Formats: sequence, C-alpha cells, structure tokens
Amino acid sequence: MDKTKWPAISGLVAGTVLLTRSVPTTFAFDKPIHASIIILASCAAAVIGLSKFLPNDGGRSHKGQQYDALPLGEVGQPHSSREPSPSPEDVRYSSSLRKLRILFLALVTFICLRVEVFRRILANTQCAGQSWEPLIPSALALWDYLTVQRHKKRMVSDDPDSSVYDALEDHLFRAPHRYVVAACFISVGSVLALATTSSPASTYICAASLHNSLYVPNLQRLGTVLDLLIAYCIAQLLHQHEARGTRSVSLRFISVGWALLFSAIILLVIGIVYYIVTEDDRKWILAIPSLYIWSVLRLDVLVCFTAICTVLTISHIGAMSTSVMATFVSISTITTAYAWNNPHPFPPMNTALAFIAICMAILGFAAYFHTETVSEERDSGAASITFKQVPSWFYLLLLTLFFVRTGLWASRKTTVSYHPIDMLIYEAQTQHEAYINQSTSSTTLAEAVHTYEHRYSRYPPPGFQHWYDYATARNSVIIDDYDSIHRDLLPFHSLSAGNIRQRTWDMISNPWNDVAGISIRNGEVAISPNVMPTHRWMLDGLVDMIGHFVEYLPDMDLAFNLNDECRVAVPFEQAEHMRSIARDSSALAQAPNNKFSAGRQEQWQLVPDEPNTETPLKELSFQRTFYEFGSVGCPSGSPARSQRIWDVSDICTACTAPQSLGAFLANWSIAADICHQPDLANLHGLYLSPAAFKGAHDLYPVFSQSKAHGFNDILYPSAWNYIEKAKYDPSDEHPDVPFAEKNASLFWRGATSEGVSPGMGQWRGMMRQRFVHLANNINGSEHPQAVLLPRGEHSLAYNQLPISELTSLMSTDVHVVDFIARCGGRDCPQQAQEFAPLVPPTDFQDHWKYKYLLDLDGAGFSGRFLPFLSSHSLPFKAALFREWWDDRVTPWQHFVPLDVRGQGLWATLAYFVGLEGKANGQHVKVDAHDFEGERIAERGRNWANRVLRKEDMEIYFFRLLLEWGRLTDDNRDDIGLDVDAERVD
Ligand SMILES: *[C@@H]1O[C@H](CO)[C@@H](O)[C@H](O)[C@H]1NC(C)=O
Ligand SMILES: *[C@@H]1O[C@H](CO)[C@@H](O)[C@H](O)[C@H]1NC(C)=O
Repeated sequence: MDKTKWPAISGLVAGTVLLTRSVPTTFAFDKPIHASIIILASCAAAVIGLSKFLPNDGGRSHKGQQYDALPLGEVGQPHSSREPSPSPEDVRYSSSLRKLRILFLALVTFICLRVEVFRRILANTQCAGQSWEPLIPSALALWDYLTVQRHKKRMVSDDPDSSVYDALEDHLFRAPHRYVVAACFISVGSVLALATTSSPASTYICAASLHNSLYVPNLQRLGTVLDLLIAYCIAQLLHQHEARGTRSVSLRFISVGWALLFSAIILLVIGIVYYIVTEDDRKWILAIPSLYIWSVLRLDVLVCFTAICTVLTISHIGAMSTSVMATFVSISTITTAYAWNNPHPFPPMNTALAFIAICMAILGFAAYFHTETVSEERDSGAASITFKQVPSWFYLLLLTLFFVRTGLWASRKTTVSYHPIDMLIYEAQTQHEAYINQSTSSTTLAEAVHTYEHRYSRYPPPGFQHWYDYATARNSVIIDDYDSIHRDLLPFHSLSAGNIRQRTWDMISNPWNDVAGISIRNGEVAISPNVMPTHRWMLDGLVDMIGHFVEYLPDMDLAFNLNDECRVAVPFEQAEHMRSIARDSSALAQAPNNKFSAGRQEQWQLVPDEPNTETPLKELSFQRTFYEFGSVGCPSGSPARSQRIWDVSDICTACTAPQSLGAFLANWSIAADICHQPDLANLHGLYLSPAAFKGAHDLYPVFSQSKAHGFNDILYPSAWNYIEKAKYDPSDEHPDVPFAEKNASLFWRGATSEGVSPGMGQWRGMMRQRFVHLANNINGSEHPQAVLLPRGEHSLAYNQLPISELTSLMSTDVHVVDFIARCGGRDCPQQAQEFAPLVPPTDFQDHWKYKYLLDLDGAGFSGRFLPFLSSHSLPFKAALFREWWDDRVTPWQHFVPLDVRGQGLWATLAYFVGLEGKANGQHVKVDAHDFEGERIAERGRNWANRVLRKEDMEIYFFRLLLEWGRLTDDNRDDIGLDVDAERVD
C-alpha cells in the first residue's frame, strides 16, 4: 500500500506548474533574503509537521501500515539501485552518524550559499545568461552511474530463445548507463528549448564597466552546482541509515526540516546584522508594502506545498527521478506557454530547433520511465520505481504535449509579406483624416456650441463666444476636439467649487509643495508670492500666455506644478466613482446664464505672507513610485497592480503585445496605458527614482505640463515651448536643409536627467541611458536585436543581428553631454565610465543637420519635440509622458513612435535608412525608405505649423481656463452659453 506516493507526485507536478507560472511576477524577490527566510522557515515547519504523521518506529515493524511503502525505510531491503547512497557501508560502519552530521551541516551551508548567490544574481539579472538548471538530472544520473550502476552485476538474459527485440531491449534499457542517456536527452532538450523559446533580451543595462557580464553567468553556474548539492544532501538525509540499524522515516524528515530551519535562522541572524547597518532596509521594513506581504505569502504557500511533495517524492522514487520530473514539467510549461503566447513572427525564434528540442525532452522523459520499469522488473524488490508498468495515460499525456507543440510549430508564422511600417503609415493617414473630420467640422459659433453640447453633454462655459472669436481670428484648425480638456477636468465635477478653491489654496500656500499660484483678478494676471526664482521663467511665460485673453476670464487662482514630474494620482476606484458622478451631473436642462457669478474675488482665500506649513503631499523623491503612484490609476485586477516583473533581462512580451505590430510601436495610446505593462516599473526614471516627487492621492487641482498614465494633473501648454526655450530657429550658419541633403543618421544629445541615480544603480533602467547604450553597443557584447530583413522575393523575416554589426551598418550619433547629472555615490563614476566619452553640448540648431532626431523623455516631457516636429528632420519619439497636444498629432503620420523599451529601435531605423553589408555572415540588404521618411517629416512640419503654433497654445489654454472658471463657480450648473436661448453679441 502506498498512499502518499501518487498524491506526492501529483502534487509535485501541479506545484511545479504553478510555481513556474507565478514566480516571474512575484513581488517576493524585491527583498530576496527576507522572502527566503520566511519561505525556509515555513517549509521547515511544514516538513517537521509532516513528519509527525509519519511512522517513527524505524519501519521495522509495520505499525505505521499506510506508510510501509516509504520504501527505503525498510532495513534489509535492497537499497534502491538508483540511489547513490552506498547504504550497505552505512549500516556496517559506525561512522555513519558522523556522516549524517556532515551531510546536515553541508546542507545548511549550501542552502545559505544558494540564497546569497540568488540574491547576487537578482541584483543584476539583466546580465544573466543561459540557465543550466536542466543539467541537474543528468548530473544525478551520472553520479548514480558512477556509484551504483557501474558496480552492479548486469543480469544478462541468457535465454537462448530470446528474440532480437529482447536482445535490443537488454542492450538499450538495461545497460548501466541507461539513465544517463535518458537524462541527457531531457537535459539537452531542455537547455535547447529554453534557449530557443525565450523572450528577446531587454535593453536594461548590463554595464560594461561593472564586469557583470561574466560574473553573473558564473554565479548562475555556481547556483546550479549548489542546487545539485542540495538535492544530493536532501536525498541522502532522506535515505540514510543509522549505525544502530534504522532511522525512522519521521526522523529523516525531521532532519531535513531542521536543516531548513537552521538555514533560515542563520540567514535571519546575518540579515539582522546587515539590517542594522543599512538605512534603506530599515526604512523599507518599517513600511512594508502590503503587495509584498501578500505576494510572499502566496509564494510561500506554493513553495511549501511543492517542497513537501518534493521531499515525499524523493523519499519514494529518489532524487534522480524527482529531478527528471520537475525539470521536464517546468521546461514544458515555460516553453509551451511562451510558444502559445507568441504566435507571431516577432519575437523571432528558431521554431524548428525549439520543436526538435522539446521532442528530445519528451523522448528522453518517456525513455527514462520505460527504462525504469523494464530494468526494475528484474531487480525485483526495489520499491523505488515510479511505475511498475508505465500506464497508457502517461504516454497519452506525452503524446498530447507532442501534438500541441507540433500544432504550435506548424501554425507559427516566421515571415511577413509586407513591412509593418508600410501598413502603419497607411493606417495613420486614415486615422488622421478621421481626426480632422471630427475636430474641424464647425464653421459657425452656433455649430461649435451644438457640437460642444453633443460631445460633452453640457453647455459651453460662459464666454465661449469670446473663445470662438479668438480661435477663429487666429485661424485655429481645431475647433471641436478638446477631449483632453474634458478628460482632465471630468473628475473635478465631483468636487464642489468651494472645495476646489480650498484645495487650490492648500497647494499654493505652502512653498514646500513646489506649486506656484497665479491669480486672475479683474482681467489682470499676477504671480502669487513665494515663488522660487529658478522657476521664474515658467511663470513669466504663463503670465505672458494668459495675458492674451485674461480679460475674458473670471477671478480665480490657479496652481501650477513647478516640478517636471506629475503630481496627482487618484486611486482607480475613487477616480472612476468621481467620473461617474461627473457624468451624471451633466446639465443641459435649464436656460443657463452666460456670465460667471459675481463676487468671485472674495471667495479665493489670500495666499498668506507667512507660508502655510501643512501639506497634503507625500514625498517620494529618489524612490520607486510605480506601485504607489503609477499603477494606482489602474483597475485592481490589472497586471500593473498585481504583478512585479523582477526579471529585467527579458522583454515582457505580454506587456508589449497590445501596442505592437511586430517589433514596431503600432498604437501610441495603448502604449501610454501602463495597466498592462508592469515591467515599466523598472524602465523609466519617473518610476525608478524621480528627482522631485511630491504627490497626492486626493484630487488636488494641479496644472502640469505633462503626465504619465493614471495621473490626474490638468495638462496645459508648457511655457517652455511657448516662450521657446528650445526654438526651431535655423539660420545661415545652421540651415535646415531639405531632407535629402541631411546626414542619414540618428542624432541625440542630452543629459542623464530623467531620474536620479543616487548609488543603487537605478540608472541602468532609465530610458535615456538605455537608448544611449543601445545605440552605441557600449557593452561590446550587447544582446542582438531583431531587424526585419527580406527573405526571398516577397517576404520579410526578423533576424537577430548583433548590435556590433548594426552599428557598423547604420549610423547613429547618440551621446550623453558634458557630465553625469543627477547621480550620487558610485553611480556617478560608473556612468561616466560607461558613457565615455561624454561629448560637449552642441548648439540646438545643429540638430537640423540630421535626418533622424531621437526624442526621449526627461524628468518630464521632452521640450524639444515641438521644434523637432517643425523642422525638415524626422523625429523618433519614445515617451511615457503625454502632453496637451497628444490627440492632435498622429504617430506614423507626423512622427515615428518608438516603444520605451527600445526593442524596435534598430528595426525602425533600418526601415528608413536601409542597410547593406555583411551581417551574421551573410550579405544583407534592406532598401532605404527616404521617400516615406521625408513625407512623414514634411507632414509633421506642416501640421505643426497649423495646429501647434503659439496661437494654438493660447487657444487651448484659453478654453481650458474658461472651463476651469466655470468649475470653480458656485453656480456652475446654471451658467454657460446656450445659443438657442439668447442672442450672442
Ligand atoms: C472625412 O470626411 C470626408 C468628407 O466628408 C470623407 O470623404 C472622408 O471619407 C472622411 N474620412 C474619414 C477617415 O472618415
Ligand atoms: C489604438 O487602440 C485604441 C483602443 O483599442 C483604438 O481605439 C485606436 O483606434 C487604436 N489606434 C490605432 C492607431 O490603431
């Protein structure tokens, strides 16, 4: 009777599947030592607890009936042929107790070392190489061969009647190296399968200056060896016999449990010592995020369950079979899920090789268990075999897996018949036309008002006729589409006007908030007191801009964000509730009064001379902000709220798929939505370590120049662009020549100012640094990137080309200028070394020499984009931040969008500049698309000159402030412009 064997094996399989699925998104590895201590301790408790249910009589008598099949407990029974333990000696010599102690101590040491190795790998996962873990079964089999099988007498069938088949079977399945062969098949197949079905490497920086590109793979190898040793020690402890005869089954489990507990205690002691010295960890532990706790608990339960099943399984069928099973199950889960989720030509993978690899693993797996039954039949008595006879469902399962993989292999396309960019450009044209159709249709005030009522279910705000006159007098193309204003202001309808006024005061009365006040009184605009002189230009620009239309605005105060980073992130549920209140409050019923209420001036509290010291803001400068301020704007079940992509070595293809067409960014608005992109937490300065971050979770009215998804700041046209701090101003000295005459290279100059890297290596994830790295092949051994190359007459296929070859085939000039900004500690010299040589800054007007201008976010939006757009050059833009003009400009029609991960940078560049030469040992040629490039550049330029002029900024701002005037009016539901009710003059 063997009641625990099959539950244990099934548990092992299920646990392995669940673990492989959930580990990649766990939060637990944020603090690997903490998580390890918890997990080791609870596994110890679980194993020791389990041992209470096991017989502790040494197994000599059969009192513990139901467990009598824990096979190796039986003294006198032949030791498992496949157990490397040289058991007969143990029984004979009294040294065995000492050996047990040594094993125990070794196990504890190995576990502690393994945790430390894991921590170090985690700190630089982007440098990790191929995993060698699947070799463990082979190593165990080899050990088994060397210690057991080789010394065993082979039972050669001398039956003269035996058939050829019998002889063959004898030879194949009973040879002493039979397990080695089967395990090697599984191992090699698994390693190959992993190598061929893994996501493309991410652009997270494996710094050349840190020499991790060798160190981390070596650590991985060390980790694999330690895993092997741990498996060996556990197996030995579980199967060891004592000198005095027996160790009970329960004792053996207890010894494993104690080993785990000891490791946990040692780690805890070391952890506490370490904790006392580092301030960061102290801070962290005082404010443990609940996401972390839940994630660790979930992982903990799963690991403990799997660990118990594994320990039981090892005691039943030995470490080798257990490792074979775990390896095969996890590899098939990983690779099948990957193949299932990535049916498109991008990311490229060698499907044929992947298929062969998995077939090898399947074959090896089947052979392994077949071998076991065939041979063990003869070694009658050994109870440690998995199957007495391999059941047909086992083969059926493997066959199913085989057919699924065949289907995936056969159905996966590896080529495309058109270039995705051609299609994206074509679609962009349609999209742009549709935008124009719906944003420019009104030609009279009455039409504009009706369109407004129809779109926003409200009357236009009072003074709308002045706005209309203002806009039409300045030839505004866009009259109807101001959806972005509507989106930004909608939630504020759930606050009373008085509340909004109070919150504005809360913001501008305390200079610490970095929010400046602008007040409008009697048609005059003025800056509130207490503004830092460094930001004076911004407020002067604002005053200048507002000055054009201030006579039509009601009295009010406005709070402007002085920092680049956005500020207000209302949790999704609350924000949704606010929006629904706002939608319900839409009022079109009564005849409105086309005037702001009287007496508004007194309603605004004066900003005190003595600054207010209270603040509703929380400071998170230099800290991770993704979960606290980034993803709170997402629905609670969304990946951004529930997953942590800790493995930064690969691109998260599930995160890029929704907005991508192959390697290219297809949908700019989906790309802005972070809810399905938890990996962004590691990939942008705003989320990794912003320079200045003072944020609120309540809906405070803050006007910002740009914002990331999920923030509720109110966007307005930046004074930076309005007063042209970065100006498109070609001259004789710096002419903007026609596109064809420009230098065909990708150009970028900038500072490392996206976020602060105060010494923890945060710079390696920041977008600017990543793009510089990617464009320069700094590592020398940078991971290859996929580029779409022609294959045959009418099709194209992605090829992985080493960046060293790409940099020689295409020209880029992408560099950090001057000195490393915003860094601290070791991050300064490391970055300086990494990005050397730092180049002197260039004149901004030098940009126009180049055909392709890279545009990347800084700490906030990029102030250069609008001048880039106005030029004859073609901007390539990668951005998390969105600005006021986002609806107006169409990617692929007016500029070239890039994913912030940079995976399509080279492929996109290759489309435009073309390439010809040797790559991967063969001649490759991609035609340049100069015509398309120039067309997008010119369309962008023309469109910018129509809808992104300074006048357009005024018009947008005017309309925004009229709306804001109504929102802050106590009678906001009773005021507005109704053209049908009154004569407008
Ligand atoms: C835009 O409107 C024009 C004329 O009304 C029409 O011909 C065209 O098909 C429309 N385009 C789109 C994309 O809706
Ligand atoms: C992007 O996706 C959104 C939402 O699915 C869709 O409405 C929009 O049309 C898409 N844009 C493009 C250019 O495909």
